[in-house]
Amino acid sequence: MTTRPGSTAKSEALYTRAAQLMPAGVSSPVRAFKKVGGRPLYFSRGEGAYAIDEDGNRYLDFCMAWGPLILGHAHPAVVEAVTRAARDGLAFGTAHRHEPRLAELVLEAFPYAERVRFVVSGTEAVMTAVRLARGATGRSLLVKFAGCYHGHGDALLAKAGSGVVTQGLSGSEGVPPSAVRDTLVLPLGNLAALEQAFATHGKDIAAVIVEPLPANNGLLQQSPEFLKALRTHTSAAGALLIFDEVINGFRFGYHGFAKLCGVEPDLTTLGKIVGGGLPVGAVAGKTRVMELLAPLGPVYQAGTMAGNPVALAAGIATLEALKKGDVYRHLDALGRALDAKLATHALRSKARLFRVGSVVWPYFDLDAPAPLEADDIRPGAVEQYHGAYRRWLERGVYLPPSAYEVSFLSAAHTEGHVGELLDALAS
Ligand SMILES: Cc1ncc(COP(=O)(O)O)c(C=O)c1O
Repeated sequence: MTTRPGSTAKSEALYTRAAQLMPAGVSSPVRAFKKVGGRPLYFSRGEGAYAIDEDGNRYLDFCMAWGPLILGHAHPAVVEAVTRAARDGLAFGTAHRHEPRLAELVLEAFPYAERVRFVVSGTEAVMTAVRLARGATGRSLLVKFAGCYHGHGDALLAKAGSGVVTQGLSGSEGVPPSAVRDTLVLPLGNLAALEQAFATHGKDIAAVIVEPLPANNGLLQQSPEFLKALRTHTSAAGALLIFDEVINGFRFGYHGFAKLCGVEPDLTTLGKIVGGGLPVGAVAGKTRVMELLAPLGPVYQAGTMAGNPVALAAGIATLEALKKGDVYRHLDALGRALDAKLATHALRSKARLFRVGSVVWPYFDLDAPAPLEADDIRPGAVEQYHGAYRRWLERGVYLPPSAYEVSFLSAAHTEGHVGELLDALAS
């Protein structure tokens, strides 16, 4: 049973210090708690389903480092593998034995891919995949969908302008219009817009990139028809289809979301779980495309820390544990337990929980249809999440500090924990 947190004086003192040294005191924006108010917590330790702050308060964690920790915090097999790898040397800047092992584990899960390259983050994986697609096709245009997040590379920070098919506008200061000029932003799930984009620009489109299960603006479940249409249009136009599985990959089974929707992309980008909590990203695809990468081909990509041995060791330990299957069976059972508890829970009169496998998104609107695009998300639902957030923390339950982010169940969560989540959300 989770206990109620007490003083957060040490977190507050750290934040005061950090805010004098770092913009908003953080290394990544959402961590600053701007949306939910108050000051961010400073976590110092993780144990299974719990994150423990500098003041010793224990929080039942459903953020789980934004997805990578599918085995829970500080899983012994992962910690052991990382410790052993670190003792052998932190970095070599050379080839090493962990690379082919993690490559085998990844390619086994994505059988339509034949080669993989390791990078350091999901952002880098996407940047590499887009460059590869442009190199492979000799074309420039990239199609993305409003509401999907693909990291913070310039071309991917395009936002939709007005109109159904829009040339991207910069979604951030510092991204020049020239960086997004070749990005077309389409509404998610809109077959007519997709057709129109291909009819008008088909011969110039290098790639379409999509999160097959968009999970960065809540959970925007797409129809199989839409995902299949992406494949049909890209194949017909000679463009590549990129599935950004940075969240999706290994989340629903020892495979990608591609297996669940029955669509095979040309390139897959991975991050989060593939690094088991350490910085690893990956791009996987067919040999003929992947071997365009330097040094075999003309598409450049490199990295001092790419394929770092300690990071890959964490990925290997994580994927080896996942491959056994028990974790996914446990997550399926947890999902069923959550549904069963929810059926009679007071939360039903306050919010809905959208769930795909172990990805859960609380939505504080009982009437509106399930959002399919980011624009469908009701401001009132967002306000309610943000307004309630401090209450959840006071009960010792930690969710992502933004209504647009999904929560994650892990191997370390129990049916009791799921009940605590529902109780907190209903409070
Ligand atoms: C689908 C998707 N792609 C790319 C990224 C970027 O990954 P990273 O934060 O590791 O750069 C994220 C991060 O949340 C993501 O969810």
